[in-house]
Amino acid sequence: MILVTGAAGFIGANFVLDWLAQSDEPVINLDKLTYAGNLHSLASLQGDARHIFVHGDIGDRALVDRLLAEHRPRAVVNFAAESHVDRSIHGPEDFIQTNVVGTFHLLESVRAYWGGLEGEARASFRFLHVSTDEVYGTLSPTDPPFTERNPYEPNSPYSASKAASDHLVRAYHHTYGLPVLTTNCSNNYGPLHFPEKLIPLMIVNALAGKSLPVYGDGMQVRDWLFVKDHCSAIRRVLEAGTPGETYNVGGWNEKPNIEIVKTVCALLDEMSPRADGKPYAEQITYVTDRPGHDRRYAIDATKIHRELGWKPAETFETGIRKTVRWYLDNQAWVQQVQSGAYRQWIDQQYGPRE
Ligand code: NAD
Ligand code: DAU
Repeated sequence: MILVTGAAGFIGANFVLDWLAQSDEPVINLDKLTYAGNLHSLASLQGDARHIFVHGDIGDRALVDRLLAEHRPRAVVNFAAESHVDRSIHGPEDFIQTNVVGTFHLLESVRAYWGGLEGEARASFRFLHVSTDEVYGTLSPTDPPFTERNPYEPNSPYSASKAASDHLVRAYHHTYGLPVLTTNCSNNYGPLHFPEKLIPLMIVNALAGKSLPVYGDGMQVRDWLFVKDHCSAIRRVLEAGTPGETYNVGGWNEKPNIEIVKTVCALLDEMSPRADGKPYAEQITYVTDRPGHDRRYAIDATKIHRELGWKPAETFETGIRKTVRWYLDNQAWVQQVQSGAYRQWIDQQYGPRE
């Protein structure tokens, strides 16, 4: 079996659902259930003995030691993190606590467990750390996309905390020989995405008749990848990646934010037109920019394609259509995650901006 952390969140939940759709190898899911963790995302696995959910913190050494000793996983996949850049600007402490200190404790537990393994179990064990392209900093319009050799230049408390965790993971390989793999992926989108992030926020705000807050001039560029393609990349790296190596993951799909928002609006015009017949794009509002906002991210995914044969299955056009459809068909999930805490965040983040 494998131990997956943070799998009640957006990417982790998609990963577990895809994993169990393709294999019978059980998954232990260790998640703290922060505001971003949601067991409703995994409701289809209720009663499925292949999914063992454990409520807890990656930084809880006693708990993680016990889980490793009891279940003896052949791999650990670490998704658990604080993941929202805007929240890291309002309050960085949780990011340091989970992304840096939590990853450190998890590495210590895994190192002790791996140290006690023998033979084939020791040789084939893997620790896969899920990271981000944001650790590389920002690009100018003419820079080539990030390769694995770009220096780390993180610009937000979130990306700095992810960079720190990547460095710890690297050091545990070089110092202790721990068989680690790191993936640095670009912006994901798709089902189960918490509506604090750009694409799901725009969909739920549009349908609720609210404004669509575009930061600054809306010309910041992100490189979008459908979440299921990220999951297939992680499975492939886990299966065939070389310990100690890092792999950039991306969809070769750079787009300015305003284009993303207009695409979402056009799809909603088609699939769920406004009652007054007007276009959703009328709801777009330009608001104060994010402090320190990185202008452009782009991933060069040549290495993972060349060495491991991975490439995305979805184009942006097919993926964004599936995503908008999913939100229209899953209003109950959206309402469930829009708790009091969610409303508080929206007031804090957007109240003063507009
Ligand atoms: P998310 O915020 O949706 O989910 C994070 C999950 O981690 C939640 O279920 C939360 O409850 C859990 N968690 C938080 N702190 C924890 C702790 N201390 N112990 C155990 N569980 C904890 O995040 P996501 O978008 O699914 O991102 C998952 C990972 O992928 C993160 O490491 C993120 O940095 C990375 N990543 C995300 C993207 C993206 O576009 N979303 C892109 C590249 C990399
Ligand atoms: O690049 C990978 C990263 O992508 C991940 O590591 C992060 O976990 C993930 O949250 C994401 O970070 P971003 O900051 O790029 O994602 P976000 O959805 O917050 O913003 C995407 C872009 O849209 C960014 O340029 C800011 C802009 N934006 C965002 C929001 C929420 C807006 O213009 N308006 C908004 O309301």
